[in-house]
Amino acid sequence: MKVTVLGAAGGIGQPLSLLLKTHLPAGSQLALYDVSPATPGVALDLSHIPTDVEVTGFTGKDPSEALKGADVVVMPAGVARKPGMTRDDLFNINAGIVKNLVQAIAENAPKACIAIITNPVNSMVPIAAEVLKKAGVYDKRKLFGVTMLDTLRAETFIAEALHRQKGSVKVPVIGGHSGTTILPVFSQVTGNTLDDKTLAEMTQHVQNAGTDVVNAKAGAGSATLSMAAAGNRMALALVSALRGAPGIVEPAFVESDSSYAPFFAHQVRLGLEGIEEILPLPKLNEREQKDFDDMLQTLNDNIKKGVDFAQK
Ligand code: LMR
Repeated sequence: MKVTVLGAAGGIGQPLSLLLKTHLPAGSQLALYDVSPATPGVALDLSHIPTDVEVTGFTGKDPSEALKGADVVVMPAGVARKPGMTRDDLFNINAGIVKNLVQAIAENAPKACIAIITNPVNSMVPIAAEVLKKAGVYDKRKLFGVTMLDTLRAETFIAEALHRQKGSVKVPVIGGHSGTTILPVFSQVTGNTLDDKTLAEMTQHVQNAGTDVVNAKAGAGSATLSMAAAGNRMALALVSALRGAPGIVEPAFVESDSSYAPFFAHQVRLGLEGIEEILPLPKLNEREQKDFDDMLQTLNDNIKKGVDFAQK
């Protein structure tokens, strides 16, 4: 398997590349691309770690060499927000970056699974879909927005509150990846003993967690390390599924066959060609159903903004 990281020398890209170098199966190739001239050096640095994952680094304006033959492309490229900004405030700067990079994927790795981390994810994934469609290589089974960090956060916070082992509590998180579009379905947690007021507060905690990190980093960026862990988990899940491992289910923002939004964060079962099945929505309690209904306008606006940009 070949995994390419686009934006590999940045705040997310470097720890993500480290995790991939140490977790990809032996025999994999890891290609790093970034406009930063440090990228070949990042690759050289990683190549001194004794795992059987071959790392190469590419810089310059053209990511083609890094992309040729890629099975999975992970994209944290772009600019991070600063205190006072929403993810949507990054649209103008990141939309063009994503459009150009996806065009290069379409030309050099048209069959790759693509995992987009660049914000605002709710708009960037629709842009990517439009670019791939225009190039005639769109396969809805192979395009993913990385919403995994919302799941990691939801699972961490509820495990803490229930005094259970971290990583042992599963929470479906649906919707999108910003503000109220992030909807953790805590009511479905097995063995939950917390009342719904507490779960509502925890929902807001998950929705604001990215902003909390932005504020705590005081102008130095947004979540990089936990996002790298999320991107790594998504990339490894894709690699395992593409190599034939059965029963891999992860959350992602994907083209949805639902009537409520053209893209939505679902639980998806992965297989040899990407998405094998979009799992049905979990059951929602009354509060979650209201949150679900209330978020749809925002989510659909975010999606339309991306589609409009790409079609211009
Ligand atoms: C996050 O959830 O931490 C990321 O989307 C980065 C951000 O701007 O919040």
